[in-house]
Parts: sequence; structure tokens; C-alpha cells
Amino acid sequence: MSGYRLTILPGDGTGREVTAEARRIIEVFEKHSPMSFDITEIPCGGQYFLETGEEWPEGSFEHCRDNTDAIFLGAIGWPGATMPNGDMAGGQVILGLRSGLGLYANIRPVKLYHGVQHKVHGEHTDIWDPDLVDMVLIRENTEGLYHSLLRRSAQAAVGTKDKPIDQPEFPGLEGEVSWDPRPISRHGSERVIRFAFELAKRRESQLHAPQRVTCVDKSNVLRGCRLFRRIFDEIDKEYEGIETTKAFIDAFTMWLVRDPEDLDVVVLPNMFGDIATDLASVLQGGMGMAASANIGDKHMLFEPVHGSSPKYAGQGKVNPIAAISSVQLMFDNLGARHDDPDAIMCADILDSAVSSHLSEGGVVTYDLGGAASTSEVGEAIAERCRELLQKQYSSV
Ligand code: IPM
Ligand code: MN
Repeated sequence: MSGYRLTILPGDGTGREVTAEARRIIEVFEKHSPMSFDITEIPCGGQYFLETGEEWPEGSFEHCRDNTDAIFLGAIGWPGATMPNGDMAGGQVILGLRSGLGLYANIRPVKLYHGVQHKVHGEHTDIWDPDLVDMVLIRENTEGLYHSLLRRSAQAAVGTKDKPIDQPEFPGLEGEVSWDPRPISRHGSERVIRFAFELAKRRESQLHAPQRVTCVDKSNVLRGCRLFRRIFDEIDKEYEGIETTKAFIDAFTMWLVRDPEDLDVVVLPNMFGDIATDLASVLQGGMGMAASANIGDKHMLFEPVHGSSPKYAGQGKVNPIAAISSVQLMFDNLGARHDDPDAIMCADILDSAVSSHLSEGGVVTYDLGGAASTSEVGEAIAERCRELLQKQYSSV
């Protein structure tokens, strides 16, 4: 299978600019490889909400659920775009899809490409070591501290209301109190932890190197985390031969920055994963390089991690590589799911294009020390893809 239905959600701010570059790349692959795409682009997000009073057109959730093989999302979030209940406008899109489509594994690879400066060691890293930073953080994506907001967003997307959760009492607290429950379930933990072990197995065969799986939690103080760790230990027993470690989130943040070469596949509850992945992006050159995949058993969504960055919106200066690498994850995951060697080949070609662009001193945006525009970088990588695709598929 090489024909896929894609839904593209550009969203807000710079999300729209990087989505244009992602789309440029997709179109190059459509033209020069056996892959083909049926693309639907849907406007959405906080800015769309301010203009129209809705977060996206009616029926968009159902389109993503029923008529889509992969979703690409630019970014959601715009200053002043807030729902009457205080939730961010556009939440129905990003959180409604994560929850409503059961996208339980938020995969965030952290890889330092040759030619990119590590933002911690900076200029001192003249010797690039391919193993220094090459890990995948897997953030649980459907429960934990996000649970209530995810449920509210998914219910809004399908037009029904959630039952309100009774306000418990908090003895010892005075005045106004707001709270977010943090439920962690056996089912939710099992599926994401198993996903992490399976990914470690796949990486072992691709990289020909043993992979360690690290569980990050705060099980010394939190009951939900105790369940998460207990399930990690259970699943660990099913995967003989895969090395594992465990860390508390506070110590992990130090470990991540100090010894990133120790880490391969890391699995974390939702909010810890949200925070740790922004921190980890400094090891790969910043948020402009951070790509992600949101994977469920039936659906998949790909997005750069950086968000809409309103202060840079409209200037054409942000780095499109996080979005382009999210397309790479899309090809790779479509290939793995549909057993499609062409999609896997296209994923490899796109990774080589990004990697050679960076290692050979191709043009880069301000965050990587260059002065190129978003579209100049997008076009330069697209041109490399064209060349590589023509070599690979000269008869197509
Ligand atoms: C992310 C973002 C989102 C999150 C926001 C935009 C809701 O920060 O994808 O990491 O908190 O999950
Ligand atoms: Mn985040």
C-alpha cells in the first residue's frame, strides 16, 4: 500500500509557516516516489476560533477519525484565544484528537545531527559523536495530569458533555482552590510501556546496538507513579535481554543533560514527558529540531513539538526542520503499520536529506546560527530529497 489519506491541520502562528514546508516535502515525495497522498487541509486553532467562533469546522474530528490514515498538525495556541470555560481555544484539535483517537504514545526522538551545535556544550563540541545524543522519549498521552482537560476536549470534539467531577475537600487549604486530578491506569500504562519495549526492539535491529529502556516517574511520593513503575517491572520481565533502568523525574532531568549517551528509549507519564521533552530539545539544537509522533492502535498524528511561537509568527524565520522531521516520522510509521517498504524507503531518504543538509553546511535559520528563511531551508531540503529520490526511483 502506498496511497494514503492525509489530513493537514496547519493551526496557529508559525505552525502555518512550517506546515507549508512540510507540505512542500510531501509533494516532492508524491511526485518522485511510488507514494501517493490524498490530502485534505482543514483550518483550525485559536486564531480560527477568534475569526469564526469555532475551533475547526464541524465534522473535522469525524473526518480525522473515519477518513484519514495520518494527520499532520502544525501548532495550536494563540494569545487571547480562550474558551468561555478558560480552556485554550484549539484544545479540541490537539487534545481532542490525542484523547478521542486514543493516541496514547507521544514519541519524541532526540537526536543531534552532525553539523548542529548542542545547546549545552555549545562551541566546545568540535568532535561530533553519533552516540552522544540519540534517544526517543515516549510520553504517555491520554491520562495523568492532563486527564480532565483531555476528556473535556474530546467530548467537545464529538459534541457531548463530560460528567462534572465532584469537588473533593482539601483539608488544610484555605480560600479558593483549583485542582487537576492525576489518574494513572493499568491499561493506559501497560499500552505505552509495551510500546516503549517494542520500539527498543525495533531500534536494536535497525541500529545494530543494544537499547536500554528507562522508566521515569516519581514513585517515591506518588501513588499513580507507583502503579506506573509496578507495571514497568511486570512488562520488563516479558522482554528478556533488554536492559532497563528507572529514575525519578527530578534526578532524571539532571541525568538527561549530564549523560545523554546513557539513554535510548525513555517512557514517562504525561506531564513529566511534556516537561522533559522541551528540556531534551536543547541537546538536539533546540525546539526547532524537535519532531513528534502521536500513535494509537488505529490512528496517528505528527507534529513539531515547538508550538505556534506567536512572537515570531508572520516573519518567515522559524526553523522548519522539526516539521520536516515530523513528516519523516509519518513515512516511517505509515511504513511500519502498513508493511510498506516504499514508505520506509522514503522515511530513510528524508532522514538522509536532513542529515546531509546539516552536515554539509546547508542553509539554516537563526536558531542554528544562520540567517536563512523558513522557506529557504524547506526548499533546500526538498531539493536534496528530489535528487535522492531520482537516484532511488529513476524510472518513476
Ligand atoms: C505539547 C504542547 C501541548 C501539551 C499544549 C499545546 C497543549 O505543549 O505538545 O507538548 O501540553 O501537550
Ligand atoms: Mn509541551
